[in-house]
Amino acid sequence: MSTQVKMSKVTTAVIREMKRKGEIITVLTAYDYPTGLVVDEAGVDIILVGDSLGMVVLGYDSTIPVTMEDMLHHTKAVSRAVKRALVIGDMPFMSYQISAEEALYNAGRFLQEADAHGVKLEGGREVAEITRRITSAGIPVMAHLGLTPQSVHQIGGYRVQGKDEASAKRILEDAKMLEEAGAFSLVLECVPASLAKLVTESISIPTIGIGAGIHCDGQVLVLHDMLGMFEKFTPKFVKQYAQLNVLMKEGVRQYVDEVRGGLFPEKKHSF
Ligand code: KIV
Repeated sequence: MSTQVKMSKVTTAVIREMKRKGEIITVLTAYDYPTGLVVDEAGVDIILVGDSLGMVVLGYDSTIPVTMEDMLHHTKAVSRAVKRALVIGDMPFMSYQISAEEALYNAGRFLQEADAHGVKLEGGREVAEITRRITSAGIPVMAHLGLTPQSVHQIGGYRVQGKDEASAKRILEDAKMLEEAGAFSLVLECVPASLAKLVTESISIPTIGIGAGIHCDGQVLVLHDMLGMFEKFTPKFVKQYAQLNVLMKEGVRQYVDEVRGGLFPEKKHSF
């Protein structure tokens, strides 16, 4: 059964209200004009131009090499496509860690140059002050706790976070600090479902889960994972709703065969 797409523009106020009303928030990534169109027209509430583009679009092994210029380039393309969803630009590694001034300047570029409606940044208490500075300037911030891929080398791999009592307590405390600093929502990545439930019940801003179970206020996936466009690996928390790679390869193979066999172009494709 498909859902009716509501046409009214999604704002951060709408997202907060959805939590209050118990409406589940849908989030997906998009990285360019065509994926922006697809995701927006399908009725997703928030489109995240994630730095995951480093891996699924640019072919890097992690998100660490992604730059501000990469992010602005892709966010601009997505913004041109989107009519309804809230567009969030992901702040890349080292664009918000050096100083509060630089973080604020870079966050502002997403709105001024790329037409985004807000930014996402990874981390807990260590980015609370930066979150406060950015939100005080009128820029909505989506926070991100649990597995924070930009810290992969410190964490020691892409693994579930918050499994022991001390780290779970820290994640819960961080969530409260980020809410207090003004974040309008919080991504929880790869944490036990029981911890995600506790965090979701303990803060008034919506939690958006990825590998965090059913109890979050919303769910997010990387578009290329859920549509089967990224074949390198598929994390356990991903459900594949299509195998586009297979379809695309089939189409391209057929084209190659037809061109080689003199079957394309036909008369109707000629002038
Ligand atoms: O970069 C990204 O796509 C993300 C989501 C997986 C939350 O951070």
